[in-house]
Amino acid sequence: MKQSSWGCTIFIQLSLCLIVYVSLHLGHPFFSSNDVDNATPLDLYFISVAGGGFRPLHRQTHLLRLMEKAAETYKAKFVVSSSEHGEDDPLLQHASRVSSSLKIPWYTRKKGSGYSRERIAMPFNGSLDVVFVDIGSLQQDLLGGTLNGSTISQLKRLTRILKAADGDWRIVVGSDSLLTLRKEPKEFARTFYQIMTKYGVNLYISEKGCTSESLTCITVPNQSENRGLTSDSNKREMEDGFLLHRVSFSEFVTYTINSSGQVIDTRLVKQKGKETI
Ligand SMILES: *[C@@H]1O[C@H](CO)[C@@H](O)[C@H](O)[C@H]1NC(C)=O
Ligand SMILES: *[C@@H]1O[C@H](CO)[C@@H](O)[C@H](O)[C@H]1NC(C)=O
Ligand SMILES: *[C@@H]1O[C@H](CO)[C@@H](O)[C@H](O)[C@H]1NC(C)=O
Ligand SMILES: *[C@@H]1O[C@H](CO)[C@@H](O)[C@H](O)[C@H]1NC(C)=O
Repeated sequence: MKQSSWGCTIFIQLSLCLIVYVSLHLGHPFFSSNDVDNATPLDLYFISVAGGGFRPLHRQTHLLRLMEKAAETYKAKFVVSSSEHGEDDPLLQHASRVSSSLKIPWYTRKKGSGYSRERIAMPFNGSLDVVFVDIGSLQQDLLGGTLNGSTISQLKRLTRILKAADGDWRIVVGSDSLLTLRKEPKEFARTFYQIMTKYGVNLYISEKGCTSESLTCITVPNQSENRGLTSDSNKREMEDGFLLHRVSFSEFVTYTINSSGQVIDTRLVKQKGKETI
């Protein structure tokens, strides 16, 4: 009798340890830091991911499993895909086959139109506008070096869509890098940034690198060219992942998560003039 209650106690102790271990590691799978301390239940979470075509199917599945975990843990409301292929993107198509938790809205570029907008209500108050733009075709038009009817009308579409985006946060998403004063005609690039600033764009999200001085720009992990060793396929895998965003009335936090589910970068954008509210 004595013997068995001893065993029983040890068994219970071990189980308790196990339970604590599991809950510690499942509760916050992505956060090793204290960033999430500012989070409140009123925050809106969503995920951004690059187009999937460059990934073999097993890597798409792996990525979707990680996104699924993030979506479940943080109750993400939607996914933004920066793919230039819009709804035809392979990752987007694969998502509904692989995961039921990712059957939340996927916002992406609309077919046949470079510019579109989604309005998302925040859980408590306020809203977020996600605007998709086609900077690639703008850059294409600019190759000639002169402004013609087509470039002007693209700028007008950009202005029109940003003007309509009057939410508390205005996020612009594109598959291309931003215009630069170095490559594009200076006058034109300046006008472009003036439009973005005038209509209060908070952030540009892109799967190509960004080199903007005047606009916060965040790159979606895109399995970019490996730094250094070309033959090391593990190196390349390191670059893959997705973004998890936490949005509150005053803060927009973006966590870059790599393919082993670790946070490798955190960016904070504050809403101008709202810190004191
Ligand atoms: C909702 O937000 C608006 C600003 O967007 C503010 O004026 C209003 O007071 C807020 N309402 C509540 C209930 O917080
Ligand atoms: C404008 O110029 C670009 C290249 O410079 C060209 O591809 C496009 O067709 C032109 N559009 C018009 C309307 O002339
Ligand atoms: C991926 O992002 C990097 C910057 O992080 C950029 O330099 C590169 O061009 C991007 N690659 C592709 C294929 O878009
Ligand atoms: C992800 O990031 C963590 C922390 O920086 C690192 O230890 C790990 O090797 C990375 N995983 C991959 C697959 O690159």
